[in-house]
Amino acid sequence: MTVAPSDPSELKRAVHAHWTAEPCGTRQVGGQSRRDYFDTIERERYELEPFIPQFARFSESKGLRVLEIGVGAGTDHVQWLRNGAVATGVDLTDAAIALTRERAELEGLAHDLRQADAERLPFDDNTFDIVYSYGVLHHTPDTTKSIAEVFRVLKPGGSARLMLYHYPSWTSILLWGVHCVAKGKIWHGPRWATYQFLESPGTKSYTLPELDQLLAAFRDRHYEVVFLGGDLLSYRRSAKYQSAFHKAAWKLYPRGLVQKFGKAWGHGTLIEVRK
Ligand SMILES: C[S@@+](CC[C@H](N)C(=O)[O-])C[C@H]1O[C@@H](n2cnc3c(N)ncnc32)[C@H](O)[C@@H]1O
Repeated sequence: MTVAPSDPSELKRAVHAHWTAEPCGTRQVGGQSRRDYFDTIERERYELEPFIPQFARFSESKGLRVLEIGVGAGTDHVQWLRNGAVATGVDLTDAAIALTRERAELEGLAHDLRQADAERLPFDDNTFDIVYSYGVLHHTPDTTKSIAEVFRVLKPGGSARLMLYHYPSWTSILLWGVHCVAKGKIWHGPRWATYQFLESPGTKSYTLPELDQLLAAFRDRHYEVVFLGGDLLSYRRSAKYQSAFHKAAWKLYPRGLVQKFGKAWGHGTLIEVRK
């Protein structure tokens, strides 16, 4: 069974290797041209998680200093640029920065993109009006440090909009079922399964009280739990999940019931807090 490295530097290297091999959102995406490729990534992202534009409020960012941490394939980042934000984007991997740069340049958008670590941001205190980070800070080994960095670089009164993984969730139950229960290792709980098997190694998830503690330095703290693709098995199946069993599970999964009755167990928490 995979075990995420316990040494933080080794874990950071494993996180880096994971996201270099498959930048977020690019799985099995084709396209005749690079423009088609990026358009497909964008269409699929907002079909799967249609609440993102309303949460991020890209359209209200003209002239504001925005920092996006963990740009991935750059889909949200180009929204800030298209809407006239004075945006800076960082990511741990050069692969993500190269993709986002390519994408901005295809659209003729000026950009400021650099490789940087969320745990040591290369910016002065009180620099940004908005810090945005979607699905990123639960992947870094020292999430507490990265949250302190968000606080530090935000201007007083500035807004942080973050998505962090929520616990308990259907995603974590499904991971537990497949990786632990099915292998007779029931004592490893759903959170452990998320830590070991969801995306890069060492992925954390937080209950709402834990999040509130993590973000205690901020004021006006708002949380909304939402379904992500894993809760409804609406993502493309990755290489790990190609067997006949997984194919059947994807087909038979009671999405309608989960959607109707299970929202409190969504895997995402949309967070908005103020410095
Ligand atoms: C799940 S992807 C999310 C990407 C993008 N925000 C999105 O929603 O598609 C996670 C991203 O976080 C980046 N990341 C992980 N740890 C990081 C760190 N310590 N500093 C900066 N970026 C990090 C990864 O390289 C990867 O691009």
